[in-house]
Amino acid sequence: MGRQRFNKLVLIGFMGTGKSTVSRLLSEQLGWKRIDGDEEIERLEGRTISDIFAADGEAGFRAIETKVLEALLKDEAPAIIATGGGAVLSEYNRELMLNHACVVALKANPEQIIARVKSDTSRPLLQGNAAERVHLLLEQRKNAYDFANLTVDTTGMTADEVVAAILLEWSAFR
Ligand code: S3P
Repeated sequence: MGRQRFNKLVLIGFMGTGKSTVSRLLSEQLGWKRIDGDEEIERLEGRTISDIFAADGEAGFRAIETKVLEALLKDEAPAIIATGGGAVLSEYNRELMLNHACVVALKANPEQIIARVKSDTSRPLLQGNAAERVHLLLEQRKNAYDFANLTVDTTGMTADEVVAAILLEWSAFR
């Protein structure tokens, strides 16, 4: 299939790889609106991600996540969409993303991820020993982000540098 000129960039990547920060900067630079999938879920559901996990379990959360992702991707307006780290686990979601957007994966080494997420209490999958949880989930999701159209390893980079790298790769991709 030929490359399409999508009017959406979807950021995927493990928790703590900088998707939210980078999506803000990209949105400013491109003048496209920024949507954060998790924020959208919380707004539509009127409850936090933690509350959804506690009441409906991970499976319940994933069902809502797919519904919201689908609506965001099918919207016509140009947008930068930051997804939750587990949105890539479903084949259906991966197909949706590839069919409607240029998919950009952000990577970072485990140390950097742990430093970013260790004091965070809002991520249900990292409660307990955050470092252990990160290592385990990174192992389980080893190849989960490989389907992206573009990948940027953000380790040691500033958010501005990551944005510049994405825009450069993206111009070549288009
Ligand atoms: C999750 C990542 C979170 C959030 C939820 C589950 C995951 O988003 O969607 O806690 O499974 O990796 P961030 O990647 O924005 O932290």
